[in-house]
Amino acid sequence: MNAGSLSMPPAPQCSFASDNAAGVLPEVLDAMVAANEGCALAYGEDPWTTRAESALADLFGGAAAVALCWGGTGANVVGLACLLGPGEAVICAEEAHIAVDEGGAPERFTGSKLLTVPTPDGKLRPDDVLAVLYALGNQHHAQPGVVSITQSTERGTLYRPDEIAAVAEVAHDHGLHVHLDGARIANAAAALDGDLRSFTTDAGVDVVSFGGTKNGLMYGDAVVVLEPAVARVLPFVRKQTTQLASKMRFLGAQFEALLADDLWLRTAGHANAMARRLADRLDGVQGVQVTGTPDVNATFVQLPSAAAVAELQAWSFVWEWEPARHEIRAMTSFATTIDDVDRFAAGIAAVAAQHG
Ligand SMILES: Cc1ncc(COP(=O)(O)O)c(C=O)c1O
Repeated sequence: MNAGSLSMPPAPQCSFASDNAAGVLPEVLDAMVAANEGCALAYGEDPWTTRAESALADLFGGAAAVALCWGGTGANVVGLACLLGPGEAVICAEEAHIAVDEGGAPERFTGSKLLTVPTPDGKLRPDDVLAVLYALGNQHHAQPGVVSITQSTERGTLYRPDEIAAVAEVAHDHGLHVHLDGARIANAAAALDGDLRSFTTDAGVDVVSFGGTKNGLMYGDAVVVLEPAVARVLPFVRKQTTQLASKMRFLGAQFEALLADDLWLRTAGHANAMARRLADRLDGVQGVQVTGTPDVNATFVQLPSAAAVAELQAWSFVWEWEPARHEIRAMTSFATTIDDVDRFAAGIAAVAAQHG
């Protein structure tokens, strides 16, 4: 069968390729327009940024230092650079975004090596960290200085708070810091009953990259420093790594709108629910296998063949995740509708039926 076959149902309106294929939350866009009235001091000396920083700090328990950044890669670079000293390296999962999808930015801007560890599900365990610590004290080896974990992970999995606390304990016991890449921290928080602190502040995380872009901002992620000893360098590191926006009020206005009335949790909760619906819709479909359970807003689906993947992509583009097993990754967002999910599931079923 060719792409665009007559037997395909109508394609979804919203793409499942990524959560950043979605547009901007109306509340966020309205806030940006409102912030466009008149003039305001630049570089974060404006009331929107002040309010956004304090709302973000409150989420983490109040004692956090916050720096709004342009995007997720930038926030990761700033966060890691705040923690790393000369000769130090970052332990992370093999499929961590910082290792795979940031064009080497963390290495280039921090000058530090990434020590990647294979994992079955994108999650680091204490033993994974311990296995790399043999290098400590040996001048010929890069010195593990930071453990970076992703919550929720690139594989769509979720750390329980006690799992993060266990990793942080091992890290701290050996003098390492903990960075959490939270490009999808809202999806994780929504999946954990909104209890953000349980897996950050209370679990011993030192620095968080707090995602905004994947949860309805036009652009913007934040660095939240929870370890007071590190906070002093944050503004200087942000400036040096080119993440200090001059017209910061438009970042501040976006975050202020996102955090108001728990909008960030409601949108992420919706995205998670849409992923669960997709998995439910595909349950029992001939030739289709949902890999794992969608804990957050990612659903991984195995199709019968490479040709099936190609036909699905031609109909409604989605990324292939594991070509060897014809597995795709479908992402949902605040903008995904029930109708989108049902159409996408019907499309997957149609492709599978043709190629099974
Ligand atoms: C886990 C993770 N971290 C960070 C990012 C940030 O990326 P960007 O620089 O594209 O905003 C992404 C985006 O895909 C991501 O998936």
